[in-house]
Amino acid sequence: MSAEILTTTDLTAADIEAYLAEQENKDLLRFITCGSVDDGKSTLIGRLLYDSKLIFEDQLSALEADSKRDGTVADGIDFALLVDGLQAEREQGITIDVAYRFFATDKRKFIVADTPGHEQYTRNMATGASTASLAVILIDARKGVLTQTRRHSFIVSLLGIKQVVLAINKMDLVDFDQTRFTEIEADYRAFADQIGLTDITAIPMSALNGDNVLTVSDSIGWYNGPTLLQALESAPLPDASDGSAFRLPVQWVNRPNLDFRGFSGTLSGGTVETGQKVMAQPSGKTSTIKRIVTLDGDLESARPGEAVTLVLDDEIDISRGDVLSDAENPAEVTDQFAAHIVWMADHALIPERPYLLKIGTQTVGAAVTDLKYKINVNTLEHTAAKTLDLNEVGVCNVALDHAIAYDPYAANPETGAFILVDRYTNATVGAGMVDFGLRRATNLVWQELDINKQARAELKRQKPAILWFTGLSGAGKSTVANLVEKRLLASGRHTYILDGDNVRHGLNKDLGFTEADRVENIRRVAETSKLFVDAGLIVLVSFISPFRSERQLARELVEDDEFLEIFVDTPLEVCETRDPKGLYAKARSGAIKNFTGIDSPYEAPESPEIRLDTTSGEPDALAEQVFTELKARGIV
Ligand code: ADX
Repeated sequence: MSAEILTTTDLTAADIEAYLAEQENKDLLRFITCGSVDDGKSTLIGRLLYDSKLIFEDQLSALEADSKRDGTVADGIDFALLVDGLQAEREQGITIDVAYRFFATDKRKFIVADTPGHEQYTRNMATGASTASLAVILIDARKGVLTQTRRHSFIVSLLGIKQVVLAINKMDLVDFDQTRFTEIEADYRAFADQIGLTDITAIPMSALNGDNVLTVSDSIGWYNGPTLLQALESAPLPDASDGSAFRLPVQWVNRPNLDFRGFSGTLSGGTVETGQKVMAQPSGKTSTIKRIVTLDGDLESARPGEAVTLVLDDEIDISRGDVLSDAENPAEVTDQFAAHIVWMADHALIPERPYLLKIGTQTVGAAVTDLKYKINVNTLEHTAAKTLDLNEVGVCNVALDHAIAYDPYAANPETGAFILVDRYTNATVGAGMVDFGLRRATNLVWQELDINKQARAELKRQKPAILWFTGLSGAGKSTVANLVEKRLLASGRHTYILDGDNVRHGLNKDLGFTEADRVENIRRVAETSKLFVDAGLIVLVSFISPFRSERQLARELVEDDEFLEIFVDTPLEVCETRDPKGLYAKARSGAIKNFTGIDSPYEAPESPEIRLDTTSGEPDALAEQVFTELKARGIV
């Protein structure tokens, strides 16, 4: 069998545990390898794992056979022991390209997170590195320190990894030249110093020939330091009792019968013991640990990384996503924080766009409210940015739909790290680290007013609603919206119309047509239409509103039955032939940039409440179609 193909996806939780149990008494070092295939990474890992016969072949073939029989991972909780950072993705069925490989020597056992060095490396790396305490950074001796080396190192430092082994590989191709080695090492140290990486062991090697991987190289006589394996065997391990406080992100509430109610999850910090006072967060309710239950019986205490079920003395309301914390030293709770974000998607991060944020076992709606700057990974310069592209790192403020429990990443990398997920594709689009909570919002209190939406609507004898017209420029949105408003007015309804071209003359005159500006344009209009609904009006919104995320955001601002998406479905060719404002001609000639349908996308609604086919119906008939639907829905 080949060790190369043995990844966690091939193993079951039980297999891995069985293997680890065999190795139980040895220390465990988790590390990550960074570099690309060209740097010789696979050769290096091959040497480490395989040629060296460090793997217990018989055990691994047993594991492989078992995993074939049992299929893929069944039990999320046990699995989380090994790939804790990946739990959220696993549940969503997203695979991140990180292969975890296991091996052991007489001295130690190792888990190496191997991330492919292709395009999406940042994303893979950030995930693989989240549990590692050491990084092996590969450099091709011919090429020296590259942008990629700096990017990897920067992420390594962001993630709080302190130890770096700089594997200066392919020394054979530079004639084992000491000067070259010293030059690269100095170059790297100069950069690493600026990002706070100081614990660096540089090793000249040739993975291909095996020089200084496992065995001391005769060809590199001038080098007296450790081989790669010696460096890995002697690297200090992270201190398990790192002083962090007890945290248990609740994975699920275990209630097999009326007599038992326990909270299951994996400790992501501190220790917990029976009798300890704990706090459920974000609610803040406190209780005491009655029992610590595991599959192997009750425990008196549990440590980070252990999967347990906690039973409390009191019946307090706790659900999945809550965090159980040491009551003396609880997590922080906030709905706004400052963070570093590593962007991982082809499609840029856009401030104010709604994403889902997953932190521990909590999931919450989130938006970046303020992108302060992005960091150039080469020069470490801070540059102003409106968006964050693939593999870029930015510092920003994040606002959440409701408060969550967290720790700053520096205090606890597990309860301080989060991922951002696209609401539509469910893809992981970013990874982040909480820097600190922001308290601004907590000083704002919602003013309860005596007159409310209902009172205002009753006076007008109507049901307020948003009629959201979306479609290409020239589709006929304003024409139909105008007719519908006339029809509503004629039947005594109180209305208001928000039209793209008009609002862009006033409230939104600072905005152009970049993606970021359009997102902000629609956010403001969505908020404004919400205010109109609160005023008891039927508000007609006529904006291209090309992106699903922002139309969804508008929908979520009001009640379910208050929002109707009306897709004015006119094909691009038809809009272009009509070209009422002559804008398509200008866009085609290149005089206007970012024109919807030409060089800026339009994401058609997937299930609009009303779809208007303007190629087969006259505007009056289409307005009638809308009016009929409004009647059917009890709005008029
Ligand atoms: S949106 O995309 O941000 O929703 P909005 O509806 O406000 O657009 O404005 C669209 C109107 O602006 C179009 O009907 C057109 O008259 C004008 N316009 C000017 N430049 C552009 C452009 N690049 N793309 C689309 N519309 C444009």
